[in-house]
Amino acid sequence: MGARLPGPRGRWLSGNLEAFDQDRLGFLSRAREEFGDLVRFDSRTTIVNDVDLAGIVLRGPDSRFQITEDFVQRKLTAAEIDSILRGRVLLNPGLRRSVVAGMRPVVERLTGEALAATSTEAVDPVPVLEQVTSRAVAAYYFGSDGAALPAMCSALLDALSEVIGNPFALPATWRTSARRRIAERHRALVCLVIELLQARIRDAHGYDDGAALVVRSAAKSTASVTTERLANLVIGAMLAGHRVPAAAASWLLMSLADHPHELEAVRSELDAGRDPSAPAHEARHPHPSPHLLACIRETLRLYPPTWLLARRSACEVELGGRRFASGHHFIISPYVLGRDERRVPQPTSFRPARWQELPAPAASLPFGSGPHGCPGSDLATVMLATIASVALDRFDLERGEGDVVPDPRTTLLPHGLRLRFLLRRTETAPGPSGDLPALTTALPRPGAGSAA
Ligand code: HEM
Repeated sequence: MGARLPGPRGRWLSGNLEAFDQDRLGFLSRAREEFGDLVRFDSRTTIVNDVDLAGIVLRGPDSRFQITEDFVQRKLTAAEIDSILRGRVLLNPGLRRSVVAGMRPVVERLTGEALAATSTEAVDPVPVLEQVTSRAVAAYYFGSDGAALPAMCSALLDALSEVIGNPFALPATWRTSARRRIAERHRALVCLVIELLQARIRDAHGYDDGAALVVRSAAKSTASVTTERLANLVIGAMLAGHRVPAAAASWLLMSLADHPHELEAVRSELDAGRDPSAPAHEARHPHPSPHLLACIRETLRLYPPTWLLARRSACEVELGGRRFASGHHFIISPYVLGRDERRVPQPTSFRPARWQELPAPAASLPFGSGPHGCPGSDLATVMLATIASVALDRFDLERGEGDVVPDPRTTLLPHGLRLRFLLRRTETAPGPSGDLPALTTALPRPGAGSAA
C-alpha cells in the first residue's frame, strides 16, 4: 500500500472505533478536514472523502469493490453477491418513473389521513410518516394482500436496529438474542411474501401490482431465480422503502418549516401549477415542480438518511494513486461528501436554489451509485414530493420546542424534532375512498409505462 495513509491515531487496542462511536458524524467530518480524501481508519479500513473516488468505489469497475452483508446483516459469499446483483435488475422495471408516478394518489391519501390524525399535537414526524411510506410501498407491491406487511417490516427493522450501526455488535455467526429476533422476524416475512408471490406465479395476469411485475420480469429473465430469492428482493425493497424515506420526508418538512421563504416559494409553485383541466390528482400535484425538487435535493444533501456506505475490495485494487490489498474495507459517508466546501459553497446552509443553478453541486450521493445504487430513487422522490405537497397545501407547519440533533445510530434520524400540523383546508380525495385495498387501482397496468 506504500507509505501509510494519514488518519487519526486512535487509542491503543481500540483504535478509532470508540471515538467514531461517540460522535460518528463529527469524527468523519473532522477526518476529512484534517486528513483529506483518503483517511486511514485502521489497518484494514479507509475512509473515502472525495466524491469522484467514492464514485469509483461504488460503480465498480468489474465488481472489484463489493458489498459485504445483506439487509439482515448476514455476511455474503461471492456467489451470493453475484446472485443478488443478477436478481436486482428484476426490481427495476416496476420502479421506473413512469410506473411509480401512479403512486401519487395513494401517497396523497395516506399522507392526508396520517397528518390529520395527529390532531394538532406536536409529534415526532418519523413514525407518522412511516405509516405513509410503509403502507404505500406494501400497497405498491401487493395491493390489499400487503396489509400485514408494514407492521412485520417495522418489527424486523426494530430488531435490526439493535445490530446495525453497532460497531461492537457480535459477529453474525453468534446467535445472540438480537440475532435470533432478526432471524425469526425475517423468516415470518419470507413465508408470507413467498405465499403472495406464489399466487402471482400461478395466475400471472390476475394481478396488477409491483410484485406481479417482478414475477413477470423473473419469468422473462434468463437467470434462474428461486421464489425465496424473489421474496428477499421484494422484502429488501420494502425495508428500504420504510424508515429511510420517512426520515427524508421528516428532514424535508423540518427544513421547510425552518425556512418560511422556501416554504412559501413551494406553496406558490404548487398553486401556480394547478391545472383545472387535468385529472383530479394531477391537477393538485403537478410533479415534479422544480423548486420542490430542489428542496428535496438540498435536504438529501444535508441530511442523507443512508449516511454511511461500505464496500470491500474483492482483489488488490488501486484508488487515488494508492494500492490496497484484497479484503480492504472502504467507508463512504454521503453526509460528509454533501458538506464538502470544495464542491458546495456554504455547505451548511439550506439553499435549494443551488440545484437550479449551473453547474449543480456534484458532491452529493444520497442514493448511492453504481450496481447497488438505490433502485427506489424515483419512488422515493414521488413519495417525498407528494408528502410535502399535501403537508404544505392542507396544513400549516409549526416546529415544536427543542433542538434537533442528527442521530446516526442507524438511519440518520432527526432526534428531538417535533412538528405540528394545523389544518388549513380539507381535501376531497380523488378516486375510491375507504380502505387501502382499493388504492392500488391507481397503479398503471404492468408494462404500460415506458422506460423513464
Ligand atoms: C429518500 C429515500 C431513499 C434514500 C435516501 C435511499 C438511499 C439508498 C442508498 C444510498 C442505497 C445504496 C446503499 C449502498 O450503496 O450500499 C440504497 C439502496 C437500496 N434502496 Fe434506497 N433509498 C431511498 C428509498 C428507497 C425506496 C422507496 C426503495 C424501494 C421501493 C428503495 C430500495 C432500495 C434497495 C432495494 C436498495 C438495495 C440495492 C442493492 O443493494 O442492490 N430505496 N438506497
